[in-house]
Parts: sequence; structure tokens; C-alpha cells
Amino acid sequence: MKHLINICDMTPEQTRHVLAVAHELRDARAAGNEPILSGKTLAMYFEKPSLRTRVSFEQGMYELGGRVIVLGQGEVGLGQRESVADFTRVMEGMVQGIMARVYDHAMLEQMAAVSGVPVINALSDLSHPCQALADAMTMQDEFGEDLSGRTVAFIGDGNNVARSLAAICEKLGVTFIHSGPANFQLETDAPVERIGDPQAAVKNADAIYADTFVSMGQEDEKAARLKVFEPYQVNEQLLAAAPDHAIVLHCLPAYRGIEITDAVMDGPSSRVFPQAHNRLHAQKGLLAVLMGGL
Ligand code: CP
Ligand code: NVA
Repeated sequence: MKHLINICDMTPEQTRHVLAVAHELRDARAAGNEPILSGKTLAMYFEKPSLRTRVSFEQGMYELGGRVIVLGQGEVGLGQRESVADFTRVMEGMVQGIMARVYDHAMLEQMAAVSGVPVINALSDLSHPCQALADAMTMQDEFGEDLSGRTVAFIGDGNNVARSLAAICEKLGVTFIHSGPANFQLETDAPVERIGDPQAAVKNADAIYADTFVSMGQEDEKAARLKVFEPYQVNEQLLAAAPDHAIVLHCLPAYRGIEITDAVMDGPSSRVFPQAHNRLHAQKGLLAVLMGGL
């Protein structure tokens, strides 16, 4: 495993290995992790805002003995001031890893095609594999390491987060259900059970997943999207249609009162904050594997 561009590029074994390393590093964290990335630098490039991804990678590198350089779109001018390939060829001679949050997924593929150092997708318009690792970790915390036979119901937009979640579900033997409006179906090669009625979609769900109805870059479509997605809010009524043990996940940031209610976010079924914290541990597992040879 050289890069992480999409979950579907990983084998089930690689997926389980990254998750196992993440759990091990989390277990050992209180006593202090070994500085396995000592002397190593991760360059982090952002075209979009971030809280969890930025902090989890920076803190994760720090906890493993490495460091980061954060680059913004304005200063780098990627694809404008210089080509993606030239950027990557310069970076690979100076740092030991590159992570990038971009609009155009093809940029990540161009980086990976020429890079001698690991390239990590920190979210693109197509996928969000780092999020999916933390999602799987959170489900493992709840249901045990072996998730096969479990069911996740993703309610809302068939977006980047849904695509990576569907992919990791396939790797781990989890049934993935999507419930969303007809024009916002998830396009993916991973298996998806499509159930239009959200109440029916959550009937056998072990986890219910919400994400924003308006992803970064879709702000112009906000009014139209909010209208069409209205029936897909994760609220107490929807939760009542799910098994009692079902947990609620959300990648965050959450637009409270839109795709998820306060009562659900802050209620007993919610695991959204442990899920956010797992971004740190999942990222450390990934960094340890890609940059630390674990
Ligand atoms: N879930 C997630 O990726 O959060 P950020 O956009 O804040 O990084
Ligand atoms: N689907 C959202 C996820 C944010 C972490 C977006 O792309 O904006």
C-alpha cells in the first residue's frame, strides 16, 4: 500500500491492518506512542476549509514524532502557478508524505501517478477515505472488530463521504443502504441497497449515518438542495424506526436542525464525537502504515 486515494484501492486485508494499527496506537497513546515518524514531514495542502482533518493529521504527526507543513491554495497556486506534476516532483524531494484536500479528484490521481512518497486524499469531490477509516473504527468500538453482517444506513446525499463509506463497508462485509432523493443517488461500484423511504432504510440498521445536504463547493445549490432533502433529516422520528441498539454517526461539520436534530446529535444513540476523535487515531494508523512502514 503506497498511497490512500480511495478506499476501493485497498484490499480487505490492508483495510483491516490500518484499522488494527489505529486501535493499537490508540491503546498505547496514554503511555506515549513510539516516535516512529521521527525526522519525517507531511506536507498538507488545502483547497477547502477543515477542522478535523487538519487537526487530526497535524496532531497525529506530532504524536508519532514527525512534523507537518501546511500549504494553502493561494500560496501554492496548484494547477495555476505550476502543474500538479511539477508540484509533486518538488515535494517528493523535500518531504516524506503529501496529503491534499481538493475539489477535483483527478489532481490526487495525478499526484499519486508521479509521487515517490505517499499521497493521501484528505477529501475530494469524489471521496473521503480518511473519514471512512474513522467511521469503521467507531463501528468497531461499538460492535467489535468483526463488522461482517452489520448494516449501515446512509441517509441523504450520495456524496463523497457516502462513497467512501460504501467502499469500506464492502471491504468489511457490512451491508450499505442509501436513502436519498432520486436525483442524488450514490454512484459507485460498491454494493448499495437503495431504499427511497428513510424509515424503511433504517429498519435493520446498526448505524445510521448523516452528512450535510450541501457539500463544500455546492453552496450555489443550497436552496434547492435543502428543499429536496427535507424528508431525509435524521431526527427522533427516524431513530424510532430503527432498532434500539442503532448508533448515529455524522462526519461533521453538522448543520443542526437541517440534516440532523439537536435531540439526535446530543442523544444517547449519538457517537459523533467519539467518531470525530477517531479521526486522530485512524489518521495515525494510516500514517504509521504509509510513512512508518508498520
Ligand atoms: N469530517 C471532516 O473531514 O471534517 P473537516 O472538514 O473539518 O476536516
Ligand atoms: N460532504 C462534505 C463532507 C465534509 C467533511 C463535504 O464535502 O463538504
